Amino acid sequence: MTEVGIDAIEIWTGKLKLDLPNTFAPAKGEDPEKYTKGLGLNASSFPDTYEDIVTMGANAAHRLMEHEGLEPEDIGRIDVATESSFDNSKPVSTYIAGCLEGVYDGKFSHANKGERKFACVAGTQSIDDAYNWIKAGRNRGRSALVIATDTALYARNDPGEATQGAGAVAMLISEDPELVSLSTEQGYGSADETDFLKPNQQFPSVDGKRSVQVYLARMREALEDFEGVAGRARTEDFAYIPFHTPFPGMVRKAALFGYRRMIRDTQQEEELADEIGRQPREEAFGVSGQGPESSGTESHADEEAYEEALNEYMDGLKRTDAYQEWYGRVIDPTLTISREVGNWYTGSVHLARTSALRTAFEEDRDLAGERLLVGSYGSGAQAEIHAETVQDTWERKIADLTIDQQIEDRYDLSYEEYERVHDVHNHDIESDLDQGEIEQFTDPHGEFVFDGWGR
Ligand code: CAA
Repeated sequence: MTEVGIDAIEIWTGKLKLDLPNTFAPAKGEDPEKYTKGLGLNASSFPDTYEDIVTMGANAAHRLMEHEGLEPEDIGRIDVATESSFDNSKPVSTYIAGCLEGVYDGKFSHANKGERKFACVAGTQSIDDAYNWIKAGRNRGRSALVIATDTALYARNDPGEATQGAGAVAMLISEDPELVSLSTEQGYGSADETDFLKPNQQFPSVDGKRSVQVYLARMREALEDFEGVAGRARTEDFAYIPFHTPFPGMVRKAALFGYRRMIRDTQQEEELADEIGRQPREEAFGVSGQGPESSGTESHADEEAYEEALNEYMDGLKRTDAYQEWYGRVIDPTLTISREVGNWYTGSVHLARTSALRTAFEEDRDLAGERLLVGSYGSGAQAEIHAETVQDTWERKIADLTIDQQIEDRYDLSYEEYERVHDVHNHDIESDLDQGEIEQFTDPHGEFVFDGWGR
C-alpha cells in the first residue's frame, strides 16, 4: 500500500527577537532564570511590522515550493492551520494562495482551500485531513500544502507574555514521502475545556496554571487511546518524542508523565521504585486526585495526600540516571528551536519534530526506519498522539533548512521597541501603522510583506 506522509518542510520565523533573560526579565523585575530555567526559554520570535500570518505562511510555502521545484498545478489542496485568523469568512489559505499566484505563472484554481481551527492541534489535524484525502484516492497525484502560521501574542503583563512567538511552518504531504510516513497508529484525548479562549478577541484569556494540568490530562488520555490501537508504547520504541511546546518547561512535565506510563509494570519500574524508595502504583498513593491522573471525585484531603505522594514519586523518578539519560536522548533534542523562538501555536509541534531531525542530522545519526511518537495538543482541549516512521531519504530534506541562520539574523529588540511593535500588532489600539507611518526594524528581501492590503 502507498505510504503517505510529510515529504518536505520549511520554516519562516518572525524577524524580531525578544530576549527574555536580558531584555524582558529586567523590565519585569523578574529573575532571568525564571525564563531560562523555569520556562526553558531564551527568546521569542516576534513579527516585524510588515509581517503577519499571511506573509509568514506565504514566505514559508514559497520557500518550500522553490526548494522542491513545485508549480501550483502540483498542489491539489492548501490547508492553513491558525489560531490568529483575522477573517471569519474567507480562509487564510486564499490570501496565501493569492500571494503565491503573484510569483508563479500558474494558478491554484483547482486546489481545495480551507482553514483549520482547534488551537495548536490544528496543524496536525490539517496533516490528518491531507493524509485522508490522499488515502481516499482523491488527490489525482497531487500533493497537499499544509501551513501552520501564528502570531502567538498575549496582552502585556499577562503571564503568557513570556511565552509569545511568531512564525510559520509549511509542510508538503504526499504519496511516497521523503521525510516521514504516517500510519493509522493514532490516539485522542478530548474534552470541552475553558482554560484558554479567544472569543472574538485578539489576545487570549488564559488560566495558565490550569492550562498546564489540562494539557497533561488530555495527553495522558491520548497516549492511552494510542496504545489501544498501536499496543504498548515503550521507552525504547521511539528515537524522539516531539511534543507541542508552548515552552520547554511544559514538555519537561509531559515527558515525565509519559515516561512513567511507558515503564509501568516492568522490571525497570521495580528497580527505579527501589532507588526512589516509593512505589509508583495508584494504590501506593491512596486515591487519585485532581492531578493529571485524576478521577476527579475525591475529597480535598484525599486529593492533597495523593498530590503529595505523586509529586514525591515523580521528583524521585526525574532524578534517576535512567530517566535523565532517556530525556537527554529522546526529548531534549526536540526543544532546541523552541528555546530560541517561543510558542508558535499550530507550528510548535512541527518545530519540535524538525528540531529533533536536525539534531540527528548534525550528529550524523542514521535515523532511517526509526520511529517518532508525536504528541500534539490544542487548548479547548484535544491531544493527539501518533507514530511516524523516518524515511531513507530524510537527510536530504533536512540538510538545507536555514532556521539557524534565520534565528541568528533576527533584530534584537529593546524593551521600548518591543512595546511599540506589540502595539502595532494590537488590533484594539490605534498605532503608527494605522496612520501610515510604518516603523520597521528589518529590511525585507525578496519576500511577501504586509503593506496594508497589497501584500
Ligand atoms: N529560577 C528557576 N525557576 C523558576 C524561577 C527562578 N528564579 N522562578 C520561577 N521558576 C519556575 C517555577 O517554579 C515554574 O516551574 P514549575 O512549573 O516547574 O514549578 C516556572 O518557572 C514558571 O514559573 P511560574 O509558574 O511562577 O510562572 P507564571 O505563573 O508567571 O507563568 C504560565 C507560567 C502559567 C505557564 C504562563 O507562562 C502562561 O500562562 N502561559 C500561557 C499558557 C500556556 O502556555 N499554557 C501551557 C499549556 S496550554 C498549551 O499548551 C496551549 C498553548 O500553546 C497556549
